[in-house]
Amino acid sequence: MATLQLTAKPRPLFQQPLPEEIRALSAEETDARIARARETLGDRVVILGHHYQRDEIIKHADFRGDSFKLSQLAAERKDADYIVFCGVHFMAESADILSADHQKVILPNLNAGCSMADMADIYQVDECWENLQELGIAEDVVPITYMNSAANLKAFVGRNGGAVCTSSNARAVLEWAFQQKPKVLFFPDQHLGRNTGYRMGIPLEQMIVWDPREELGGNEPETLQDSKILLWKGHCSVHGRFTVDQIKEARESYPGIHVMVHPECPLDVVLASDYDGSTEYIIKKVNEAAPGSKWAIGTEINLVNRLAQEHPDKTIFCLDPVICPCSTMYRIHPHFLLWTLENLLDGKVVNEIKVHPEVADQAKVALNRMLAIT
Ligand code: 13P
Ligand code: SF4
Repeated sequence: MATLQLTAKPRPLFQQPLPEEIRALSAEETDARIARARETLGDRVVILGHHYQRDEIIKHADFRGDSFKLSQLAAERKDADYIVFCGVHFMAESADILSADHQKVILPNLNAGCSMADMADIYQVDECWENLQELGIAEDVVPITYMNSAANLKAFVGRNGGAVCTSSNARAVLEWAFQQKPKVLFFPDQHLGRNTGYRMGIPLEQMIVWDPREELGGNEPETLQDSKILLWKGHCSVHGRFTVDQIKEARESYPGIHVMVHPECPLDVVLASDYDGSTEYIIKKVNEAAPGSKWAIGTEINLVNRLAQEHPDKTIFCLDPVICPCSTMYRIHPHFLLWTLENLLDGKVVNEIKVHPEVADQAKVALNRMLAIT
């Protein structure tokens, strides 16, 4: 089948500069104008905010969530004409794929990408698949892509019998995959794949890394034959900052502390922590925690700081003392949100994220499989 490479090139960075009049606004003026625009637009607009967004954005979100919850919301909120997605590019693409035809999805700043998602592109994944086909291995493999990937990779997975997963359902999706076939190709986050496989009892030596820059991913044909999971060599630069030493230090300084990390962290960090889970899981765990309890959290700083503010009765801090922001999530500055909303007031849709219909159809198969599995 012909490969759909329609969004395969690196995401073009074509965010137009904001008008000087908006850039000059103070934080208070911006906030007031966002609130006014939001009110005037009423039910025609729904604003979705990922948990890593800054507080000045989150306060205007109608719904907040992790990647999974936001994809469900995008699939369910058929009443709004516009979905303003305060998150990163792959999330807005998924919202476009799952939303109704009449709805338009808007990403306030087109430069808000995800460095992990950019670590796998369709040319590399196609090449990997061709290699596996030549070795007679592909027929035993279910491809699984993490939500943090471009729409054309979700389409690849959809047309090759696989599914999408998020950090909140990776295990359920991998269990489903192993009911179909004996092997999995997991991209682009090697850590989520390894952490999940490890919990399922898959030996580490049967989870091998596929490096797209090396011939056969840097593996011998026999190793590929013997493996259970091929882990794409990708990672999150934010979660890659957390270390076992930081955990040791937190435990020494705060006896009785609970350590909780996101499963995009490396395996040794996840194993040294007490809990790991998606952003939604992390929030739930802190909400349910006893007053006076202490928490060192290994995830993005905006979420950790918000949890600390919302729970003054608990001690909550980020495992990384040097602060750990997701710089691309942070690109959704309130000026961009204001600009998109005021354009809607003027009847103009700026920054629409529109996935090519053929790619969207195939990606939807993979996304719907995930929604059905979980
Ligand atoms: P969640 O699905 O847990 O929100 O994670 C998304 C993400 O990008 C984490 O880095
Ligand atoms: Fe991507 Fe990491 Fe930012 Fe999540 S935290 S959006 S994986 S760069």
